[in-house]
Amino acid sequence: MNRTVRTKPYYVELETDRSYVWCACGRSRNQPWCDGSHRGTGTGPVTYRATRDNEEALFCGCKKTATPPFCDGAHNSLADVYPSDDPHSEKNRAVPEVRRHPAAAMLNGGCYVVATRHLPLQTSAGYRWGETVGASLGAVHQSQFYFETACLEETSQGSISFGDRSVVLFIAQGEARLRIGTQTLVVPEHAGVSILPGEAFSIRPASTGVDLKFFATVGPRAAAPEFLTDAEPGPDDCGSDDRGFDIRYPVRVAAIDPGKRSDMADRFFQILVDKSLGSPMLTQFIGMIPLSKAAPHRHLYEESLIVLSGTGCLWTDNLKTPVTAGDVIFLPHRQLHSLECTDSDGMFVVGVIYPGDNPAVNY
Ligand code: FES
Repeated sequence: MNRTVRTKPYYVELETDRSYVWCACGRSRNQPWCDGSHRGTGTGPVTYRATRDNEEALFCGCKKTATPPFCDGAHNSLADVYPSDDPHSEKNRAVPEVRRHPAAAMLNGGCYVVATRHLPLQTSAGYRWGETVGASLGAVHQSQFYFETACLEETSQGSISFGDRSVVLFIAQGEARLRIGTQTLVVPEHAGVSILPGEAFSIRPASTGVDLKFFATVGPRAAAPEFLTDAEPGPDDCGSDDRGFDIRYPVRVAAIDPGKRSDMADRFFQILVDKSLGSPMLTQFIGMIPLSKAAPHRHLYEESLIVLSGTGCLWTDNLKTPVTAGDVIFLPHRQLHSLECTDSDGMFVVGVIYPGDNPAVNY
């Protein structure tokens, strides 16, 4: 009998060289730790030995995890409907709405929403760009920059570098022609791309008529992109710095593929870029949120979310603000939040988490 199982995982700060004995059977009265009650069940505990002080961990509470002793997000799918909250409850009706000032709405704990359509942009090397996530806005681990370019004159366009950091691109509008070192890739709209540390890239619309809009998320965070404009044009005439193409990871582009979706009750996500594409710390995914308000929760990772379609509301401890397509949401590590979709067609978002590789893990 699993009398002490609960849906959410347990947040624990670990001590180096100490062993933690996690209850796998669900019978312990000292959750999440084993108290010996498993005897006779055929299920035993799982021991984890911490390797560093103040390591943060989420020990599974539902006992359905496939990565014991740690949470893998399985608790989100214990029912047909994702854990939700009533946006019209008496408590929620009293939550005040934060207005944009001018492009950003600041909520609790450094959480914010910024509208790319109101973002001040500067021009460099054929790109118009602005910062959506970064140290100046409170981010610790990642930076994100929004770019636009209509540049078809490859020789007048420079390359972009973020030095020895990992970069994940998302093509928000248009088909792109991307150059990394000597490699040229055609990237469809709404695809993710992995740029490896040390690589520079240039990117432009693949055809006339549609301006290219894309996001570059960088980890660890960078203050600004570096634009390289003095390199000779490459063999396909696209201006490019020759900072190589890391052939250890020949596959860099991840397009939307319904066959690769992971279900979470009545919502789903698809991992686009992760360590399999050479990005060990930044993980990018696309997710669908149905008409609903998620139950308030927290993550151990820092997260940025691009709203691709739909409308909704972001809630934090005691504030809220509307969100719509083209907005970027920043969620600090451990900040309480809830994203509500108010659109009957659902809301699509593209997220990047750092560090971490599973956007389903929350508590
Ligand atoms: Fe559950 Fe020991 S009491 S594994």
